[in-house]
Amino acid sequence: MTLARTGTLVLAAARAGRAVAAFNIITLEHAEAVVAGAEQAGAPVVLQLSENAVKFRGGRLLPIARAALACAEAAAVPVALHLDHVKNPDLLRLAADAGFGSVMYDAAHLPYAENLEATRSAADWAHANGLWIEAELGEVGGKNGDAPPDPHAPGARTDPDEARRFVTDSGVDALAVAVGSTHAMTTRTASLDHALLARLAKNVDVPLVLHGSSGLPDAELAAAVAGGIRKVNIGTALNVAMTEAIRTHLTPADPRPYLTAARTAMTATAKDMIGALNP
Ligand code: G3H
Ligand code: ZN
Repeated sequence: MTLARTGTLVLAAARAGRAVAAFNIITLEHAEAVVAGAEQAGAPVVLQLSENAVKFRGGRLLPIARAALACAEAAAVPVALHLDHVKNPDLLRLAADAGFGSVMYDAAHLPYAENLEATRSAADWAHANGLWIEAELGEVGGKNGDAPPDPHAPGARTDPDEARRFVTDSGVDALAVAVGSTHAMTTRTASLDHALLARLAKNVDVPLVLHGSSGLPDAELAAAVAGGIRKVNIGTALNVAMTEAIRTHLTPADPRPYLTAARTAMTATAKDMIGALNP
């Protein structure tokens, strides 16, 4: 199977009223497990690498990007590569040559006008270099280990009228929206503002992206897709599965038994969550 492109997968999902799962990878085992989970689910998938994960890899993008690319190219289902939560313009500019077909440029922490200006410039560059680009408006909290703000507080969510203007004025291809989810939740207890999601889906004519999806139970994930979410970002759920498996199977010297258990656990998580999106 050849490498797919995120934009193609998301638009095909949108036409079918479905969503594509996009999993954040940190290690080779994450990438292998996500591809195996997608193959078992018989669904396309996005492998995404965040700026934070690149920092964890000593700031080197290529070793993990090339590993993910090799996993994608060998997959039996369409797999796309996406560079996620990019704030550093220097990293953004490495994306195309490293094999990524899409990026998420994250200036959501900035005031509206500055977010728009930075995002428009990133979008101009991305399009000139053949990349599909996602941006964020209204900040989904809990990034970088920050204490998450209350996602239900007034002003913490994406305003539908602002969202429409932001997409038109920035030229982005997809929009990440704050509708009640929070990054890095280790329990699946969050709930979304479905009325707001419905207004956003009506107002915005590019696909909507959900971040912080690990904190949502299956029924909320399915409802989010039914309400118009077309790309669902999942990271922490894999890390919870990996960590639990390693804790249970930790051996004194050989890493293979516990990494095998970790990969198996992450495969099951990926398969189950892909299934939950499009029941
Ligand atoms: O961009 C990545 C996602 O928003 C992952 O969030 O780790 O809470 O699932 P999560
Ligand atoms: Zn995110």
